[in-house]
Amino acid sequence: MEPSEQKKRVKSVKKKWRAGVLGATGIVGQRLVKLLAGHPWFELTEVAASERSSGMTYAEAVRWHLETPIPEVARDLVVKGVEPVLECDFVFSALDSSVAGPVEVDFARAGYPVVSNSKNHRMDADVPLLIPEVNASHLDAIPVQQKNRGYDTGFIVTNPNCSTAGLVLVLKPLAEAFGLERIFVVTLQAISGAGYPGVASMDIQSNVVPFISGEEEKMEAEPQKLLGKWDGARFVEAGVGISAHCNRVAVLHGHLECVSLGLKKIASLDEVREALRTFEVDEELASLPTALRHPVVVVDEEDRPQPRRDVEAGEGMAAVVGRIRECPLHDVKLTLLSHNLVRGAAGAALLNAELLAARGFLKDRSAKSATEVAEPAVR
Ligand SMILES: NC(=O)c1ccc[n+]([C@@H]2O[C@H](COP(=O)([O-])OP(=O)(O)OC[C@H]3O[C@@H](n4cnc5c(N)ncnc54)[C@H](OP(=O)(O)O)[C@@H]3O)[C@@H](O)[C@H]2O)c1
Repeated sequence: MEPSEQKKRVKSVKKKWRAGVLGATGIVGQRLVKLLAGHPWFELTEVAASERSSGMTYAEAVRWHLETPIPEVARDLVVKGVEPVLECDFVFSALDSSVAGPVEVDFARAGYPVVSNSKNHRMDADVPLLIPEVNASHLDAIPVQQKNRGYDTGFIVTNPNCSTAGLVLVLKPLAEAFGLERIFVVTLQAISGAGYPGVASMDIQSNVVPFISGEEEKMEAEPQKLLGKWDGARFVEAGVGISAHCNRVAVLHGHLECVSLGLKKIASLDEVREALRTFEVDEELASLPTALRHPVVVVDEEDRPQPRRDVEAGEGMAAVVGRIRECPLHDVKLTLLSHNLVRGAAGAALLNAELLAARGFLKDRSAKSATEVAEPAVR
């Protein structure tokens, strides 16, 4: 589709789609609830969680972690169970991975588009693992998924693991400009990445834990799919060499990553900096409410990025890069930071849903519920 045609389609958005949040009481679910309040295209109509929470109002069930109050639109919603009988046009899934797998399939089979944060279906052969700025064309896999699985209007789209999200956003412009051969990455990951209550305070206080279960495997596998291609029938992996070391550190929000890169084409540090600085999304993506025109922010101070100072860049949707310098072992090394709960989870899912809406993948499941809204703003 031509960009002008895409833009027209985005401009023609006139209804609010009704969104449900599965796992709405969790740490990612709460961010989604907050981001959905006042969203120009979506309205929160359902919240669902475990049997521990269902039947209570959202305000009663949730242990709210955000600095701003619980949005009014959510306070009195009754928390439902995770059965696919919710009054909404699509669902976000922020479910614990111990239950997300079959629940997401149940919803997709029942006709709901599922926009998931969970790891369960990320590497499925017919499920897009999506970062709109990186691989929007992977949405072409949805009709194949629906055909393979006998889904009607339902399907599953996922966003990557929180540490992979920031890394791949930074790798994308470098892959395009120079090609990538090898990536060596060491992470310093925030405790909110483990959900609530997450890592016990006695384990993390004044400490670093050099192990996060399954994280290194995800960081080594997911970028291959994200930076690879959908060839019309299957995903072809990027074939980049990746080695990841993952550590949990006593930081609340924001995953910092120290990266060394081997490039296919020789590039000066200035060329690398320029490729990152000028990375810009196209008009279709820039029209999405949660998108940033420049999702990678380059900082020049020698001691940045830092979680406390930089984690909110671009309202949590930017990847902040600094310390771009020569690497004696590979070609270039740099440090990057991204917000694990926004770019790495709730904001990522929201952006995915916006792209799905703009491309016509969301359907109104109840014509009665549609409410008129203004045209989406371009940022
Ligand atoms: N935290 C991050 O930075 C991050 C980043 C990317 C992806 N993710 C993924 O996103 C998902 C949510 O993570 P989180 O950090 O928000 O976890 P969390 O704080 O532990 O929340 C888990 C949610 O799942 C619900 N749940 C648990 N067991 C359930 C069951 N048996 N049936 C129905 N609902 C159940 C919980 O409901 P109750 O409150 O009723 O127990 C809660 O709403 C996970 O799959 C995680 O791996 C997290």
